[in-house]
Amino acid sequence: MNGTRIGCERLRSKVMSAEDAASLIDSGSTVGMSGFTGSGYPKTVPLALAARIEAAHAAGDPFRLRVWTGASTGPELDGALAKADGIEFRLPYNSDPIAREKINRGEMEYFDMHLSQVAPMAWQGFLGPLDTAVIEISGIRPDGSLIPSSSVGNNKTWLDRADKVILELNYWQSADLQGMHDIYYGTALPPHRVPIPLTRSDDRIGETAFRCDPDKIVAIVETDAPDRNLPFTPPDDVARAIAGHLLEFFAHEVAKGRLPASLLPIQSGVGNIANAVLTGLVDSPFEDMTAFTEVIQDGMLDLLDAGKLRMASATAFSLSPEAAARLNADMGRYRDRMILRPQEISNHPELIRRLGCIAMNGLIEADIYGNVNSTHIMGSRIQNGIGGSGDFARNAYVSIFMTPSTAKGGKISAIVPQASHVDHISQDVQVLVTEQGLADLRGLSPKQRARLIIDNCAHPDYRPALQDYYARALAGSYGLQTPTLPGEALSWHQRYIETGSMR
Ligand code: COA
Repeated sequence: MNGTRIGCERLRSKVMSAEDAASLIDSGSTVGMSGFTGSGYPKTVPLALAARIEAAHAAGDPFRLRVWTGASTGPELDGALAKADGIEFRLPYNSDPIAREKINRGEMEYFDMHLSQVAPMAWQGFLGPLDTAVIEISGIRPDGSLIPSSSVGNNKTWLDRADKVILELNYWQSADLQGMHDIYYGTALPPHRVPIPLTRSDDRIGETAFRCDPDKIVAIVETDAPDRNLPFTPPDDVARAIAGHLLEFFAHEVAKGRLPASLLPIQSGVGNIANAVLTGLVDSPFEDMTAFTEVIQDGMLDLLDAGKLRMASATAFSLSPEAAARLNADMGRYRDRMILRPQEISNHPELIRRLGCIAMNGLIEADIYGNVNSTHIMGSRIQNGIGGSGDFARNAYVSIFMTPSTAKGGKISAIVPQASHVDHISQDVQVLVTEQGLADLRGLSPKQRARLIIDNCAHPDYRPALQDYYARALAGSYGLQTPTLPGEALSWHQRYIETGSMR
Protein backbone atom coordinates (compact mmCIF):
# COMPACT_ATOMS: atom_id res chain seq x y z
CA MET A 1 0.00 0.00 0.00
CA ASN A 2 1.31 3.50 0.85
CA GLY A 3 0.79 4.85 -2.63
CA THR A 4 3.02 2.35 -4.40
CA ARG A 5 0.40 1.82 -7.11
CA ILE A 6 -0.34 5.52 -7.63
CA GLY A 7 1.77 6.32 -10.69
CA CYS A 8 0.32 9.82 -11.15
CA GLU A 9 2.08 12.27 -8.83
CA ARG A 10 -0.70 14.87 -8.70
CA LEU A 11 -3.23 12.32 -7.43
CA ARG A 12 -1.19 11.29 -4.36
CA SER A 13 -2.60 14.14 -2.29
CA LYS A 14 -6.11 12.66 -2.70
CA VAL A 15 -5.39 9.64 -0.46
CA MET A 16 -7.61 9.62 2.65
CA SER A 17 -9.42 7.29 5.03
CA ALA A 18 -12.61 5.44 4.07
CA GLU A 19 -14.49 7.48 6.72
CA ASP A 20 -13.34 10.79 5.22
CA ALA A 21 -14.23 9.60 1.73
CA ALA A 22 -17.68 8.42 2.89
CA SER A 23 -18.34 11.86 4.39
CA LEU A 24 -18.19 13.28 0.84
CA ILE A 25 -21.34 11.40 -0.16
CA ASP A 26 -24.57 13.34 0.46
CA SER A 27 -27.87 11.99 1.72
CA GLY A 28 -30.39 11.57 -1.10
CA SER A 29 -27.70 11.33 -3.74
CA THR A 30 -27.20 8.71 -6.43
CA VAL A 31 -24.02 6.66 -6.17
CA GLY A 32 -22.67 4.53 -9.02
CA MET A 33 -20.49 1.80 -7.54
CA SER A 34 -18.27 -0.76 -9.20
CA GLY A 35 -18.92 -4.47 -8.70
CA PHE A 36 -20.18 -7.46 -10.61
CA THR A 37 -20.99 -10.94 -9.22
CA GLY A 38 -18.97 -10.41 -6.08
CA SER A 39 -15.85 -9.08 -7.75
CA GLY A 40 -14.32 -5.63 -8.12
CA TYR A 41 -16.74 -3.88 -5.76
CA PRO A 42 -15.56 -1.20 -3.28
CA LYS A 43 -15.19 -2.74 0.16
CA THR A 44 -14.17 -0.09 2.66
CA VAL A 45 -16.04 3.07 1.59
CA PRO A 46 -19.48 1.35 1.61
CA LEU A 47 -18.76 -0.02 5.12
CA ALA A 48 -17.79 3.45 6.34
CA LEU A 49 -20.88 4.83 4.60
CA ALA A 50 -23.09 2.28 6.36
CA ALA A 51 -21.64 3.33 9.73
CA ARG A 52 -22.29 6.98 8.86
CA ILE A 53 -25.88 6.17 7.84
CA GLU A 54 -26.51 4.29 11.09
CA ALA A 55 -25.23 7.27 13.08
CA ALA A 56 -27.40 9.64 11.02
CA HIS A 57 -30.51 7.49 11.61
CA ALA A 58 -29.77 7.40 15.35
CA ALA A 59 -29.73 11.19 15.28
CA GLY A 60 -33.09 11.31 13.45
CA ASP A 61 -31.67 12.04 9.95
CA PRO A 62 -33.34 9.76 7.35
CA PHE A 63 -30.12 9.34 5.30
CA ARG A 64 -30.71 7.11 2.26
CA LEU A 65 -29.12 6.66 -1.16
CA ARG A 66 -29.88 5.51 -4.67
CA VAL A 67 -27.32 2.81 -5.52
CA TRP A 68 -26.35 1.69 -9.03
CA THR A 69 -23.75 -1.00 -9.76
CA GLY A 70 -22.73 -3.40 -12.51
CA ALA A 71 -24.56 -6.36 -10.97
CA SER A 72 -24.37 -8.10 -7.56
CA THR A 73 -21.67 -7.04 -5.11
CA GLY A 74 -20.75 -8.33 -1.65
CA PRO A 75 -21.80 -8.14 1.99
CA GLU A 76 -19.62 -5.06 2.59
CA LEU A 77 -21.65 -3.12 0.01
CA ASP A 78 -25.21 -4.36 -0.53
CA GLY A 79 -25.35 -6.25 2.75
CA ALA A 80 -24.01 -3.42 4.94
CA LEU A 81 -25.96 -0.63 3.26
CA ALA A 82 -29.21 -2.63 3.28
CA LYS A 83 -28.71 -3.57 6.93
CA ALA A 84 -28.24 0.11 7.76
CA ASP A 85 -31.48 0.79 5.85
CA GLY A 86 -29.46 3.13 3.65
CA ILE A 87 -30.70 2.12 0.19
CA GLU A 88 -33.83 3.79 -1.08
CA PHE A 89 -33.52 2.58 -4.67
CA ARG A 90 -31.33 -0.08 -6.25
CA LEU A 91 -30.47 -1.10 -9.82
CA PRO A 92 -29.73 -3.22 -11.89
CA TYR A 93 -29.25 -6.57 -10.04
CA ASN A 94 -29.12 -7.90 -6.51
CA SER A 95 -28.35 -11.26 -4.96
CA ASP A 96 -27.61 -10.09 -1.42
CA PRO A 97 -29.93 -11.84 1.07
CA ILE A 98 -30.45 -8.81 3.34
CA ALA A 99 -31.24 -6.51 0.40
CA ARG A 100 -33.49 -9.22 -1.08
CA GLU A 101 -35.48 -9.37 2.14
CA LYS A 102 -35.86 -5.57 2.22
CA ILE A 103 -37.05 -5.55 -1.39
CA ASN A 104 -39.56 -8.33 -0.73
CA ARG A 105 -40.84 -6.54 2.37
CA GLY A 106 -41.44 -3.45 0.24
CA GLU A 107 -38.79 -1.40 2.04
CA MET A 108 -36.48 -0.87 -0.95
CA GLU A 109 -37.34 -0.03 -4.56
CA TYR A 110 -35.54 -2.25 -7.07
CA PHE A 111 -35.31 -1.81 -10.85
CA ASP A 112 -34.20 -5.22 -12.11
CA MET A 113 -33.02 -4.71 -15.70
CA HIS A 114 -31.19 -6.19 -18.70
CA LEU A 115 -27.53 -5.66 -17.87
CA SER A 116 -26.60 -4.54 -21.40
CA GLN A 117 -29.08 -1.67 -21.13
CA VAL A 118 -27.80 0.00 -17.97
CA ALA A 119 -25.05 2.13 -19.54
CA PRO A 120 -27.13 3.23 -22.57
CA MET A 121 -30.05 4.13 -20.28
CA ALA A 122 -27.74 6.14 -18.03
CA TRP A 123 -26.46 8.03 -21.08
CA GLN A 124 -29.97 8.53 -22.43
CA GLY A 125 -30.76 10.29 -19.15
CA PHE A 126 -33.65 7.98 -18.22
CA LEU A 127 -32.13 7.09 -14.85
CA GLY A 128 -31.51 10.63 -13.65
CA PRO A 129 -28.21 12.31 -12.70
CA LEU A 130 -25.30 10.45 -11.10
CA ASP A 131 -23.71 12.35 -8.24
CA THR A 132 -20.79 10.16 -7.13
CA ALA A 133 -18.90 7.20 -8.56
CA VAL A 134 -17.18 4.83 -6.09
CA ILE A 135 -14.94 2.58 -8.15
CA GLU A 136 -12.45 -0.12 -7.19
CA ILE A 137 -9.27 -0.09 -9.30
CA SER A 138 -6.00 -2.01 -9.17
CA GLY A 139 -3.65 0.85 -10.05
CA ILE A 140 -3.20 4.39 -11.40
CA ARG A 141 -0.87 4.97 -14.34
CA PRO A 142 1.46 7.99 -14.63
CA ASP A 143 -0.96 9.60 -17.12
CA GLY A 144 -3.80 9.33 -14.58
CA SER A 145 -5.64 6.52 -16.38
CA LEU A 146 -7.12 3.90 -14.06
CA ILE A 147 -6.29 0.18 -14.21
CA PRO A 148 -9.50 -1.79 -13.63
CA SER A 149 -9.68 -4.62 -11.11
CA SER A 150 -11.55 -7.95 -11.24
CA SER A 151 -14.70 -6.58 -12.88
CA VAL A 152 -15.41 -3.84 -15.40
CA GLY A 153 -19.22 -3.67 -15.30
CA ASN A 154 -20.51 -0.12 -15.74
CA ASN A 155 -17.39 1.57 -14.37
CA LYS A 156 -16.55 3.43 -17.57
CA THR A 157 -20.03 4.94 -17.63
CA TRP A 158 -20.04 5.83 -13.91
CA LEU A 159 -16.61 7.51 -14.25
CA ASP A 160 -17.80 9.48 -17.28
CA ARG A 161 -21.21 10.47 -15.88
CA ALA A 162 -20.55 11.18 -12.18
CA ASP A 163 -19.91 14.69 -10.88
CA LYS A 164 -17.26 13.40 -8.48
CA VAL A 165 -15.23 10.20 -8.20
CA ILE A 166 -14.01 8.23 -5.17
CA LEU A 167 -11.48 5.49 -5.97
CA GLU A 168 -10.76 2.41 -3.89
CA LEU A 169 -7.29 1.27 -4.83
CA ASN A 170 -7.13 -2.41 -3.92
CA TYR A 171 -3.70 -4.03 -3.43
CA TRP A 172 -5.29 -7.49 -2.96
CA GLN A 173 -5.98 -7.40 -6.71
CA SER A 174 -3.07 -8.68 -8.78
CA ALA A 175 -0.83 -6.00 -10.31
CA ASP A 176 -0.67 -8.32 -13.33
CA LEU A 177 -4.30 -7.50 -14.16
CA GLN A 178 -2.82 -4.62 -16.13
CA GLY A 179 -3.34 -5.35 -19.82
CA MET A 180 -6.23 -7.80 -19.44
CA HIS A 181 -9.04 -5.29 -19.91
CA ASP A 182 -10.50 -3.91 -23.11
CA ILE A 183 -12.40 -0.66 -22.51
CA TYR A 184 -14.27 0.37 -25.65
CA TYR A 185 -14.92 4.09 -26.07
CA GLY A 186 -16.84 3.93 -29.35
CA THR A 187 -20.42 3.74 -28.09
CA ALA A 188 -22.77 6.63 -28.85
CA LEU A 189 -26.46 7.44 -28.73
CA PRO A 190 -28.73 7.24 -31.78
CA PRO A 191 -28.61 8.66 -34.43
CA HIS A 192 -24.81 8.53 -34.10
CA ARG A 193 -24.34 4.83 -33.35
CA VAL A 194 -21.96 2.85 -35.56
CA PRO A 195 -21.27 -0.91 -35.73
CA ILE A 196 -19.10 -2.21 -32.90
CA PRO A 197 -15.92 -3.51 -34.65
CA LEU A 198 -15.75 -6.88 -32.90
CA THR A 199 -16.11 -10.01 -35.02
CA ARG A 200 -14.38 -12.64 -32.82
CA SER A 201 -14.51 -13.24 -29.08
CA ASP A 202 -10.78 -12.51 -28.78
CA ASP A 203 -10.79 -9.20 -30.69
CA ARG A 204 -9.49 -6.22 -28.74
CA ILE A 205 -11.22 -3.00 -29.74
CA GLY A 206 -10.49 -0.62 -26.87
CA GLU A 207 -8.00 0.57 -24.27
CA THR A 208 -6.54 -1.27 -21.28
CA ALA A 209 -7.47 1.42 -18.72
CA PHE A 210 -10.28 3.87 -17.88
CA ARG A 211 -9.97 7.52 -18.79
CA CYS A 212 -10.91 9.79 -15.92
CA ASP A 213 -10.76 13.56 -15.50
CA PRO A 214 -8.34 13.94 -12.53
CA ASP A 215 -10.21 17.06 -11.39
CA LYS A 216 -13.26 14.90 -10.64
CA ILE A 217 -11.31 12.58 -8.30
CA VAL A 218 -12.07 13.74 -4.75
CA ALA A 219 -10.67 10.78 -2.80
CA ILE A 220 -8.46 7.72 -3.11
CA VAL A 221 -8.85 5.06 -0.40
CA GLU A 222 -6.24 2.30 -0.23
CA THR A 223 -7.23 -1.22 0.80
CA ASP A 224 -6.20 -4.86 0.49
CA ALA A 225 -9.58 -6.48 1.17
CA PRO A 226 -10.39 -9.59 -0.90
CA ASP A 227 -13.32 -10.08 -3.26
CA ARG A 228 -16.34 -12.00 -1.88
CA ASN A 229 -15.57 -15.20 -3.85
CA LEU A 230 -18.10 -17.76 -2.63
CA PRO A 231 -17.35 -21.48 -3.04
CA PHE A 232 -19.33 -23.44 -5.62
CA THR A 233 -21.15 -26.59 -4.50
CA PRO A 234 -19.42 -29.62 -6.04
CA PRO A 235 -21.60 -31.02 -8.87
CA ASP A 236 -24.16 -33.55 -7.50
CA ASP A 237 -25.99 -36.25 -9.47
CA VAL A 238 -28.62 -33.77 -10.68
CA ALA A 239 -26.04 -31.28 -11.96
CA ARG A 240 -24.04 -34.08 -13.59
CA ALA A 241 -27.17 -35.41 -15.30
CA ILE A 242 -28.03 -31.94 -16.67
CA ALA A 243 -24.45 -31.52 -17.92
CA GLY A 244 -24.59 -35.00 -19.49
CA HIS A 245 -27.79 -34.22 -21.45
CA LEU A 246 -26.28 -30.97 -22.70
CA LEU A 247 -23.02 -32.56 -23.82
CA GLU A 248 -25.00 -35.20 -25.70
CA PHE A 249 -27.01 -32.40 -27.37
CA PHE A 250 -23.83 -30.59 -28.43
CA ALA A 251 -22.35 -33.80 -29.89
CA HIS A 252 -25.61 -34.36 -31.78
CA GLU A 253 -25.56 -30.81 -33.17
CA VAL A 254 -21.93 -31.19 -34.28
CA ALA A 255 -22.78 -34.52 -35.96
CA LYS A 256 -25.70 -32.83 -37.78
CA GLY A 257 -23.38 -30.04 -38.96
CA ARG A 258 -25.32 -27.39 -37.05
CA LEU A 259 -22.41 -26.56 -34.74
CA PRO A 260 -18.67 -26.60 -35.51
CA ALA A 261 -16.48 -29.09 -33.62
CA SER A 262 -15.12 -26.27 -31.47
CA LEU A 263 -18.76 -25.27 -30.78
CA LEU A 264 -19.57 -21.53 -30.90
CA PRO A 265 -18.65 -18.98 -28.20
CA ILE A 266 -20.23 -20.22 -25.00
CA GLN A 267 -22.08 -18.08 -22.49
CA SER A 268 -22.61 -19.62 -19.10
CA GLY A 269 -24.96 -18.11 -16.55
CA VAL A 270 -24.55 -17.74 -12.81
CA GLY A 271 -24.92 -20.51 -10.24
CA ASN A 272 -23.89 -24.04 -9.46
CA ILE A 273 -25.56 -25.81 -12.39
CA ALA A 274 -23.90 -23.49 -14.92
CA ASN A 275 -20.53 -24.14 -13.28
CA ALA A 276 -21.18 -27.91 -13.34
CA VAL A 277 -21.82 -27.80 -17.09
CA LEU A 278 -18.48 -26.05 -17.63
CA THR A 279 -16.79 -28.69 -15.49
CA GLY A 280 -18.47 -31.35 -17.66
CA LEU A 281 -16.99 -29.77 -20.80
CA VAL A 282 -13.47 -30.49 -19.48
CA ASP A 283 -13.89 -34.19 -20.34
CA SER A 284 -15.80 -33.54 -23.56
CA PRO A 285 -14.43 -34.08 -27.08
CA PHE A 286 -14.74 -30.37 -27.94
CA GLU A 287 -11.44 -28.53 -28.46
CA ASP A 288 -10.34 -24.96 -29.14
CA MET A 289 -13.49 -23.49 -27.62
CA THR A 290 -14.03 -19.82 -26.84
CA ALA A 291 -16.32 -18.03 -24.41
CA PHE A 292 -18.18 -14.77 -24.97
CA THR A 293 -19.94 -14.50 -21.66
CA GLU A 294 -20.72 -12.35 -18.67
CA VAL A 295 -18.65 -13.97 -15.91
CA ILE A 296 -15.64 -16.26 -15.74
CA GLN A 297 -16.32 -19.00 -13.17
CA ASP A 298 -14.15 -21.79 -11.77
CA GLY A 299 -15.23 -24.11 -14.59
CA MET A 300 -13.80 -21.70 -17.18
CA LEU A 301 -10.42 -21.71 -15.42
CA ASP A 302 -10.55 -25.53 -15.49
CA LEU A 303 -11.30 -25.43 -19.23
CA LEU A 304 -8.43 -23.00 -19.84
CA ASP A 305 -6.06 -25.19 -17.79
CA ALA A 306 -7.17 -28.31 -19.65
CA GLY A 307 -6.35 -26.58 -22.94
CA LYS A 308 -9.98 -26.97 -24.07
CA LEU A 309 -10.80 -23.28 -23.99
CA ARG A 310 -8.66 -21.00 -26.16
CA MET A 311 -9.87 -17.76 -24.59
CA ALA A 312 -12.63 -16.24 -22.48
CA SER A 313 -14.21 -12.81 -22.87
CA ALA A 314 -16.42 -11.52 -20.02
CA THR A 315 -17.01 -8.50 -17.81
CA ALA A 316 -16.09 -10.02 -14.42
CA PHE A 317 -14.78 -12.96 -12.46
CA SER A 318 -17.10 -15.04 -10.29
CA LEU A 319 -14.74 -17.43 -8.57
CA SER A 320 -14.44 -19.55 -5.45
CA PRO A 321 -11.70 -18.48 -2.99
CA GLU A 322 -9.46 -21.34 -4.25
CA ALA A 323 -9.90 -20.41 -7.89
CA ALA A 324 -9.30 -16.72 -7.13
CA ALA A 325 -6.04 -17.65 -5.39
CA ARG A 326 -5.08 -19.81 -8.40
CA LEU A 327 -5.83 -16.97 -10.79
CA ASN A 328 -4.03 -14.32 -8.73
CA ALA A 329 -0.93 -16.51 -8.36
CA ASP A 330 -0.68 -16.92 -12.13
CA MET A 331 -2.38 -13.81 -13.51
CA GLY A 332 0.47 -13.07 -15.93
CA ARG A 333 -0.20 -16.36 -17.74
CA TYR A 334 -4.00 -16.21 -17.68
CA ARG A 335 -4.03 -12.54 -18.75
CA ASP A 336 -3.28 -13.33 -22.40
CA ARG A 337 -6.25 -15.69 -22.62
CA MET A 338 -8.87 -13.54 -20.92
CA ILE A 339 -10.46 -10.20 -21.73
CA LEU A 340 -12.66 -8.22 -19.36
CA ARG A 341 -14.90 -5.67 -21.10
CA PRO A 342 -17.63 -3.19 -20.09
CA GLN A 343 -20.93 -5.02 -19.60
CA GLU A 344 -22.58 -3.05 -22.42
CA ILE A 345 -20.06 -4.85 -24.71
CA SER A 346 -19.87 -8.30 -23.01
CA ASN A 347 -23.69 -8.46 -23.16
CA HIS A 348 -24.30 -6.49 -26.34
CA PRO A 349 -27.16 -7.94 -28.44
CA GLU A 350 -25.39 -6.96 -31.69
CA LEU A 351 -22.28 -8.93 -30.70
CA ILE A 352 -24.10 -11.93 -29.24
CA ARG A 353 -26.08 -12.29 -32.48
CA ARG A 354 -23.01 -11.74 -34.68
CA LEU A 355 -20.81 -14.25 -32.84
CA GLY A 356 -23.61 -16.81 -32.50
CA CYS A 357 -23.27 -17.52 -28.80
CA ILE A 358 -24.49 -20.71 -27.15
CA ALA A 359 -26.43 -19.27 -24.20
CA MET A 360 -26.85 -21.45 -21.10
CA ASN A 361 -28.80 -20.00 -18.19
CA GLY A 362 -30.54 -21.19 -15.05
CA LEU A 363 -34.22 -20.67 -14.28
CA ILE A 364 -36.72 -20.65 -11.44
CA GLU A 365 -39.55 -22.28 -13.37
CA ALA A 366 -40.70 -22.97 -16.92
CA ASP A 367 -44.22 -23.66 -18.08
CA ILE A 368 -45.36 -26.43 -20.37
CA TYR A 369 -45.16 -24.06 -23.37
CA GLY A 370 -41.56 -23.04 -22.63
CA ASN A 371 -42.04 -19.59 -21.09
CA VAL A 372 -39.32 -19.10 -18.49
CA ASN A 373 -39.35 -17.33 -15.15
CA SER A 374 -35.78 -16.50 -14.04
CA THR A 375 -36.54 -14.05 -11.29
CA HIS A 376 -39.69 -14.39 -9.17
CA ILE A 377 -40.72 -17.02 -6.62
CA MET A 378 -44.49 -17.65 -6.72
CA GLY A 379 -44.84 -14.70 -9.09
CA SER A 380 -44.09 -11.98 -6.56
CA ARG A 381 -40.92 -12.54 -4.50
CA ILE A 382 -37.72 -11.53 -6.29
CA GLN A 383 -34.85 -14.02 -6.09
CA ASN A 384 -32.03 -12.19 -7.91
CA GLY A 385 -32.90 -10.51 -11.21
CA ILE A 386 -32.89 -11.10 -14.95
CA GLY A 387 -29.20 -10.18 -15.13
CA GLY A 388 -27.76 -10.90 -18.55
CA SER A 389 -30.02 -13.84 -19.30
CA GLY A 390 -32.32 -11.77 -21.51
CA ASP A 391 -29.43 -10.16 -23.40
CA PHE A 392 -28.10 -13.61 -24.29
CA ALA A 393 -31.29 -15.66 -24.62
CA ARG A 394 -32.95 -13.51 -27.26
CA ASN A 395 -29.85 -13.07 -29.40
CA ALA A 396 -28.04 -16.40 -29.07
CA TYR A 397 -27.46 -18.94 -31.84
CA VAL A 398 -29.05 -21.42 -29.51
CA SER A 399 -30.68 -20.42 -26.24
CA ILE A 400 -30.63 -23.10 -23.52
CA PHE A 401 -32.25 -22.97 -20.07
CA MET A 402 -31.45 -25.55 -17.41
CA THR A 403 -32.72 -26.42 -13.96
CA PRO A 404 -33.30 -29.28 -11.54
CA SER A 405 -36.87 -30.51 -12.20
CA THR A 406 -37.90 -29.79 -8.59
CA ALA A 407 -36.97 -27.30 -5.86
CA LYS A 408 -37.22 -27.22 -2.07
CA GLY A 409 -36.81 -30.96 -1.56
CA GLY A 410 -39.41 -31.88 -4.19
CA LYS A 411 -42.16 -29.63 -2.83
CA ILE A 412 -42.00 -27.43 -5.92
CA SER A 413 -42.11 -28.50 -9.57
CA ALA A 414 -39.88 -26.42 -11.85
CA ILE A 415 -42.24 -27.31 -14.70
CA VAL A 416 -45.68 -25.79 -14.10
CA PRO A 417 -48.91 -25.32 -16.09
CA GLN A 418 -48.23 -21.59 -16.35
CA ALA A 419 -45.19 -19.60 -15.26
CA SER A 420 -46.10 -17.25 -12.41
CA HIS A 421 -43.88 -14.57 -13.96
CA VAL A 422 -42.30 -14.50 -17.43
CA ASP A 423 -38.82 -13.17 -18.16
CA HIS A 424 -38.19 -15.16 -21.35
CA ILE A 425 -41.07 -15.77 -23.72
CA SER A 426 -41.23 -19.16 -25.40
CA GLN A 427 -39.71 -17.74 -28.61
CA ASP A 428 -36.49 -17.04 -26.67
CA VAL A 429 -36.32 -20.50 -25.11
CA GLN A 430 -35.03 -23.02 -27.63
CA VAL A 431 -33.79 -25.85 -25.45
CA LEU A 432 -34.93 -26.81 -21.94
CA VAL A 433 -32.91 -29.24 -19.82
CA THR A 434 -33.50 -30.86 -16.44
CA GLU A 435 -31.89 -33.94 -14.92
CA GLN A 436 -34.84 -35.87 -16.42
CA GLY A 437 -33.92 -35.01 -19.98
CA LEU A 438 -33.71 -32.38 -22.72
CA ALA A 439 -36.44 -30.83 -24.85
CA ASP A 440 -35.31 -29.34 -28.17
CA LEU A 441 -38.12 -26.85 -28.79
CA ARG A 442 -36.81 -25.30 -32.00
CA GLY A 443 -39.43 -25.19 -34.74
CA LEU A 444 -42.23 -26.59 -32.59
CA SER A 445 -45.76 -25.24 -32.05
CA PRO A 446 -47.02 -24.65 -28.48
CA LYS A 447 -48.85 -28.00 -28.35
CA GLN A 448 -45.79 -29.87 -29.66
CA ARG A 449 -43.64 -28.07 -27.08
CA ALA A 450 -46.00 -28.99 -24.22
CA ARG A 451 -45.85 -32.73 -24.95
CA LEU A 452 -42.06 -32.70 -25.13
CA ILE A 453 -41.51 -30.58 -22.02
CA ILE A 454 -43.88 -32.69 -19.90
CA ASP A 455 -42.47 -36.01 -21.14
CA ASN A 456 -38.77 -35.09 -21.21
CA CYS A 457 -38.25 -32.50 -18.47
CA ALA A 458 -40.89 -32.80 -15.73
CA HIS A 459 -40.18 -34.84 -12.60
CA PRO A 460 -42.06 -38.20 -12.55
CA ASP A 461 -43.83 -37.11 -9.34
CA TYR A 462 -45.43 -34.18 -11.18
CA ARG A 463 -45.68 -35.60 -14.72
CA PRO A 464 -49.13 -37.24 -14.33
CA ALA A 465 -50.63 -34.02 -12.91
CA LEU A 466 -49.18 -32.02 -15.81
CA GLN A 467 -50.48 -34.58 -18.33
CA ASP A 468 -53.90 -34.41 -16.69
CA TYR A 469 -53.94 -30.58 -16.75
CA TYR A 470 -52.87 -30.54 -20.39
CA ALA A 471 -55.49 -33.12 -21.43
CA ARG A 472 -58.25 -31.12 -19.74
CA ALA A 473 -56.92 -27.87 -21.27
CA LEU A 474 -57.07 -29.51 -24.70
CA ALA A 475 -60.69 -30.46 -24.04
CA GLY A 476 -61.89 -27.27 -22.41
CA SER A 477 -59.72 -24.34 -23.52
CA TYR A 478 -61.20 -21.17 -25.05
CA GLY A 479 -58.78 -21.65 -27.98
CA LEU A 480 -56.50 -24.44 -29.06
CA GLN A 481 -53.32 -22.62 -30.13
CA THR A 482 -52.02 -22.54 -26.53
CA PRO A 483 -54.53 -24.56 -24.48
CA THR A 484 -54.97 -22.97 -21.06
CA LEU A 485 -57.41 -23.18 -18.16
CA PRO A 486 -57.05 -19.66 -16.69
CA GLY A 487 -58.83 -20.51 -13.44
CA GLU A 488 -56.46 -23.41 -12.75
CA ALA A 489 -53.19 -22.39 -14.42
CA LEU A 490 -51.69 -20.79 -11.30
CA SER A 491 -53.38 -23.10 -8.78
CA TRP A 492 -50.11 -24.99 -8.18
CA HIS A 493 -48.53 -21.78 -6.88
CA GLN A 494 -51.56 -20.97 -4.75
CA ARG A 495 -51.39 -24.47 -3.26
CA TYR A 496 -47.71 -23.97 -2.39
CA ILE A 497 -48.43 -20.61 -0.74
CA GLU A 498 -51.26 -22.16 1.30
CA THR A 499 -49.77 -25.58 2.15
CA GLY A 500 -46.00 -25.34 1.58
CA SER A 501 -46.14 -27.87 -1.26
CA MET A 502 -47.31 -28.00 -4.89
CA ARG A 503 -48.23 -31.66 -4.47
N1 COA B 1 -39.50 -22.11 -6.63
C1 COA B 1 -38.99 -21.64 -5.47
N2 COA B 1 -37.67 -21.53 -5.24
C2 COA B 1 -36.83 -21.92 -6.22
C3 COA B 1 -37.30 -22.45 -7.43
C4 COA B 1 -38.69 -22.53 -7.62
N3 COA B 1 -39.22 -22.99 -8.75
N4 COA B 1 -36.22 -22.76 -8.19
C5 COA B 1 -35.13 -22.44 -7.48
N5 COA B 1 -35.51 -21.94 -6.29
C6 COA B 1 -34.62 -21.47 -5.23
C7 COA B 1 -33.73 -22.58 -4.73
O1 COA B 1 -34.40 -23.39 -3.80
C8 COA B 1 -32.59 -21.80 -4.13
O2 COA B 1 -33.03 -21.28 -2.89
P1 COA B 1 -32.10 -21.28 -1.60
O3 COA B 1 -30.94 -20.37 -1.96
O4 COA B 1 -32.97 -20.73 -0.53
O5 COA B 1 -31.68 -22.70 -1.42
C9 COA B 1 -32.45 -20.61 -5.09
O6 COA B 1 -33.72 -20.49 -5.75
C10 COA B 1 -31.35 -20.80 -6.15
O7 COA B 1 -31.60 -21.99 -6.84
P2 COA B 1 -30.48 -23.07 -7.21
O8 COA B 1 -31.19 -24.35 -7.49
O9 COA B 1 -29.40 -23.06 -6.19
O10 COA B 1 -30.00 -22.61 -8.63
P3 COA B 1 -28.90 -21.67 -9.22
O11 COA B 1 -27.82 -21.31 -8.27
O12 COA B 1 -28.54 -22.35 -10.48
O13 COA B 1 -29.75 -20.34 -9.55
C11 COA B 1 -31.35 -18.90 -10.57
C12 COA B 1 -30.90 -20.34 -10.34
C13 COA B 1 -32.51 -18.88 -11.55
C14 COA B 1 -31.80 -18.26 -9.25
C15 COA B 1 -30.12 -18.12 -11.14
O14 COA B 1 -29.69 -18.77 -12.31
C16 COA B 1 -30.47 -16.68 -11.48
O15 COA B 1 -30.49 -15.83 -10.62
N6 COA B 1 -30.75 -16.40 -12.77
C17 COA B 1 -31.13 -15.10 -13.24
C18 COA B 1 -29.96 -14.29 -13.71
C19 COA B 1 -29.17 -14.98 -14.79
O16 COA B 1 -29.64 -15.88 -15.47
N7 COA B 1 -27.94 -14.55 -14.94
C20 COA B 1 -27.01 -15.11 -15.88
C21 COA B 1 -26.92 -14.29 -17.07
S1 COA B 1 -25.34 -14.19 -17.76
